[in-house]
Amino acid sequence: MIEPIIWDENCLKLLDQRLLPHKKEYMICRSIYDVAYAIREMVVRGAPAIGVSAAFGVVLGLKEGKNINEIYEILKNTRPTAVNLIWALDKMKGAYEYCDGNINYMEKVAIKLFERDLEYNRMIGKNGLTILNDGDCILTHCNAGALATAGYGTALGVFRAAKEKGLNIHVYVDETRPYLQGARLTTFELMEEDIPCTLICDNMPGFLMYQGKIDKIIVGADRIAKNGDTANKIGTYQLAILAYYHDIPFYIAAPLSTFDFTLENGNQIKIEMRNGNEVRKIKDTLISPNNVPVFNPAFDITPGHLITGFITEFGVFNSVKDLLNNINEGGKNGD
Ligand code: MRU
Repeated sequence: MIEPIIWDENCLKLLDQRLLPHKKEYMICRSIYDVAYAIREMVVRGAPAIGVSAAFGVVLGLKEGKNINEIYEILKNTRPTAVNLIWALDKMKGAYEYCDGNINYMEKVAIKLFERDLEYNRMIGKNGLTILNDGDCILTHCNAGALATAGYGTALGVFRAAKEKGLNIHVYVDETRPYLQGARLTTFELMEEDIPCTLICDNMPGFLMYQGKIDKIIVGADRIAKNGDTANKIGTYQLAILAYYHDIPFYIAAPLSTFDFTLENGNQIKIEMRNGNEVRKIKDTLISPNNVPVFNPAFDITPGHLITGFITEFGVFNSVKDLLNNINEGGKNGD
């Protein structure tokens, strides 16, 4: 399987996702600034992958002799929407206070966060099997795969688990303009795993649903508020509305580290606004007048009431309230 993140004691190797699917090349991060750059410039992307990379960034920062508060500041603003970044930084800061800055201990904590993310993805995959049927055609958006996590993936974790169980599924993949995570990354992952898939443009899901060709929708998430409102890649909201209209179940697959219980609703989630050239161009080719005004939010909010269920490492829940009731010890993962 693809290894998006490799820790090598003195450096972090990140598979450069800007070059995929045509080139597999690792960026070697030897300094906290390299990691901050890699997150900001989307060498690594996807909520859990950003969190895990930041944890290793903390270790590199400590090895460089930086103060933990300085480290926290350098990494925290690299990307604003995925809560996993702050979640991981808080975990690392808590560990720092606990171990009095012992670097070996901090390195072990970062490795643990990495391993746990992988383990939770496998649990998400297994739990997702409870909502799948043999022969299902599933639509997904953006990339919630191994590349967006420590490995295996959340939404794609469910597809991997289905394949491992011998279920026949077919995945329709939105290209996910403007950054094309679906076309470049999700199809790449699915094809490497021999999971049957079809690439479609972002304006095609409605027609597929009209034709009765979609049984379920499963996507990932970047931040989920207490009422279930979910930030995910731009375009997710319109899929949820289409799914509601066509009576198609709409699922979010995400680990607990993506839930932000400090937020009452999605209005409080900061949405990253990105450079207009991502819309004006495809790669380096200009496809519009070069100065046309552009609106380019990276994420949107899907209201909780449009979501059929949350597939997590703890099981599948109809609401965040149900999820919270089921986590009896009340702590978040990684504690
Ligand atoms: O801008 P990106 O590529 O970081 O956005 C990623 C997404 O929106 C994913 O769908 C989400 O993080 C889920 S990742 C398991």
